[in-house]
Amino acid sequence: MTNEEAILVRVSSRKYADRPLQEGEITLLEKGIEHLNAESGLHMQLICREPEAFSSLRRSYGMFSGVKNYIAMVGSGKDPDLMEKCGYYGEQLVLLATTMGLGTCWVAATFDREKCRCILYDGEVLCCVIALGPIPEQRGAREKLIRSAIHHKTKALSQLARGMAGAPDWFTAGVAAVQRAPSAMNRQPIQFRFEGDAVTAEIAEAGDYTSIDLGIAKYHFEIGAHGGVWTWGSPGTFEKALEEKSCGAVIWKPEGDGHIYLLAQHGTHHWSFPKGHVEGPETELETAAREIQEETGLTVEIDSNFREVVTYYPKPGVIKDVVFFLATPTGGTEHAQESEINQLKWYTFEDAYPLVTFATDVEVLQAAEDYIKAHHESA
Ligand SMILES: Cc1cc2nc3c(=O)[nH]c(=O)nc-3n(C[C@H](O)[C@H](O)[C@H](O)COP(=O)(O)O)c2cc1C
Repeated sequence: MTNEEAILVRVSSRKYADRPLQEGEITLLEKGIEHLNAESGLHMQLICREPEAFSSLRRSYGMFSGVKNYIAMVGSGKDPDLMEKCGYYGEQLVLLATTMGLGTCWVAATFDREKCRCILYDGEVLCCVIALGPIPEQRGAREKLIRSAIHHKTKALSQLARGMAGAPDWFTAGVAAVQRAPSAMNRQPIQFRFEGDAVTAEIAEAGDYTSIDLGIAKYHFEIGAHGGVWTWGSPGTFEKALEEKSCGAVIWKPEGDGHIYLLAQHGTHHWSFPKGHVEGPETELETAAREIQEETGLTVEIDSNFREVVTYYPKPGVIKDVVFFLATPTGGTEHAQESEINQLKWYTFEDAYPLVTFATDVEVLQAAEDYIKAHHESA
């Protein structure tokens, strides 16, 4: 599930299932927290199997049941943008948890701060928490999508933004993602504006926790608009990222009882799959076929029912989508394109998995393995 999809299916969960978080889930959340703490300077902490902050009826007004895990949103009291950063980075964890199928809820008021088991170093403050965990009767992603599309009450686009008439599509898409953003008391107090060529966001209605709402809304806008950079504060300004696109494929073929994958070592460092930039009016499939032939010498049959997109910022101000299909060789002579590829090698899934360099590519390989097993090898 991408972040765009997670925005569509997320709703606040206040009732949690009995099952504890699994080791794998904790590891993924910890990894996300560690990465975002390093980037932000925050001290976000995952606290597991600690129901006390939510067990007092007096503090939680009985609104929650079964909360045993939460992320404490902690940072330096001296940081003037602390609350906004909590919103901006905390929402990234909310969406990560959503992609993992977990329920979440931002909680600033209805929990017992004194019972919160977070560590506060000198000068640090606890801004709020994010309750999270497995939810009962897991609905499928699709069902959630339909349910949230029908039931989610939200302000109209015209109430959330000014200057829509002359704005590019990405601005409208950004504001549409903000429509789905959680906010304290569901007030949606952030106003977006497109004026001249400038995009701004500011707090338009006073209220508690609006700076957290500002950070959350800015992150949703960035996802909807497909990449860019915000300045902190109200008003904050947005610089849209330039968009780049590459296409390629995970190439595989049957071998013995199973199958093997063709990995390409780009330059002398990273191992990935053959791929390259879209040229002119090419379709995604045309780019993938051309790049595969250039980089490997092979002609292939492409299965476009498998389509995985990896998105990342290759350098500041640029966002890149890489579309991967599945492909099997049909002809040609295998040889590595000298200028781009150091070597090509066939590997089993078990050998390819640790070799593939980037985590996002590892996810694509895993998806390919699941797909091949389900569509080509299921007995
Ligand atoms: C900063 C912030 C603080 C919140 N505090 C609470 C809270 O104390 N108790 C609660 O039940 N919900 C709280 N919420 C959840 C909102 O009520 C919820 O996000 C909003 O009603 C929109 O619903 P949705 O998240 O399902 O889209 C908070 C949300 C935000 C963003």
